[in-house]
Amino acid sequence: LFSAVAMAPRDPILGLNEQYAADPNPQKVNLGVGVYFDDNGKLPLLQCVQAAEKALMDTPTARGYLPIDGIAAYDNAVKALVFGADAEPVTSGRVATVQAIGGTGGLKIGADFLHKLNPNAKVLISDPSWENHRAIFQNAGFEVDTYAYYDAAKRGVNFDGMLQSLRSAAPGTIAVLHACCHNPTGYDITPAQWDQVIEVVKANNLVAFLDMAYQGFGHGIAEDGAVIGKFVAAGLNIFVSTSFSKSFSLYGERVGALSVVANDKEEAARVLSQLKIVIRTNYSNPPTHGGAVVAKVLTTPALRQQWEEELGAMRVRIKAMRQKLVDGLQAAGVQQDMSFMTQQIGMFSYSGLTKEQMLRLRSEFGVYGTDTGRICVAALNSQNVGYVCQAIAKVLQG
Ligand code: LMR
Repeated sequence: LFSAVAMAPRDPILGLNEQYAADPNPQKVNLGVGVYFDDNGKLPLLQCVQAAEKALMDTPTARGYLPIDGIAAYDNAVKALVFGADAEPVTSGRVATVQAIGGTGGLKIGADFLHKLNPNAKVLISDPSWENHRAIFQNAGFEVDTYAYYDAAKRGVNFDGMLQSLRSAAPGTIAVLHACCHNPTGYDITPAQWDQVIEVVKANNLVAFLDMAYQGFGHGIAEDGAVIGKFVAAGLNIFVSTSFSKSFSLYGERVGALSVVANDKEEAARVLSQLKIVIRTNYSNPPTHGGAVVAKVLTTPALRQQWEEELGAMRVRIKAMRQKLVDGLQAAGVQQDMSFMTQQIGMFSYSGLTKEQMLRLRSEFGVYGTDTGRICVAALNSQNVGYVCQAIAKVLQG
């Protein structure tokens, strides 16, 4: 039965964890996967999460099946967070939100639903994008292509190229857009540029699928979420996938969501009924714990406040690490101007290092980033940043 089964390649991101775990180098540093560690190199367990878990444990509840679309309080809290509790699409009931298995799950539910609607539509992802975007949409049955995004020479966004790619896309094309903290490059477009993208999406009848995995890691929760309001104001039917893996440091709980904005309440009910079929035929219904914790935090004012502060502290620490990285590289003798790393936003820096240089970083220094040159700045700390800078400097010096 399995004699013809080929060995699949390791996952370009999660596969690095396996390699890292097997590396005996005592100085090894994992800057591969997008995970935030605190300044002691520890994965944080947020205070707001601990408080919510304690409150949940104080009234122990049996674990029946959740509804197919998840915990109602969770879905409502996601709607309020993503669109604003008083936003018209929410109050008029034209947003269909389902709890999902992480942000990846939200993307997959949306992809499967879209494929049923229009199997011949093309999907455009940014060039480059999160590696899993292509795989998720391809596995849902779509042909996946790219729109221009990164300009290596300019170290920024090739915005004209991006607009041009979107302009030349056929109507119905699904454009996967990074709502904030672009993964992997760390370069976002400006609010004014978003307006231009929205104009093209509207004029060209494209379907915008916004991946919001890093809300709060850019400029703030509301600031990062503002782009969603822009799409809504333009009267567009959009898809938004949400992840709480990073913002709640709940990676292993797989807490995410998919929200779809329809034209009216009745249409949203029909969309929801189809999303439920996708969920039921994939994993039946979501797990309880993570969704209950996030709902508790988001709907309890004191915990919500605490969450905003804790997320704010993560954001500030990452920014400080960017500066330390740039200063440390200079101190380690790197001649080229690396200050672009402080202009990038979110968890990642697209370092500009080649695949060969990234492989050397790994084999000679135990410093793990992706082959594409992406490093997770959120995993740097006061203890390891100096070593990482020395390693990068040596690799850059050839
Ligand atoms: C990443 O890009 O490293 C994260 O989004 C984690 C993942 O699932 O790939």
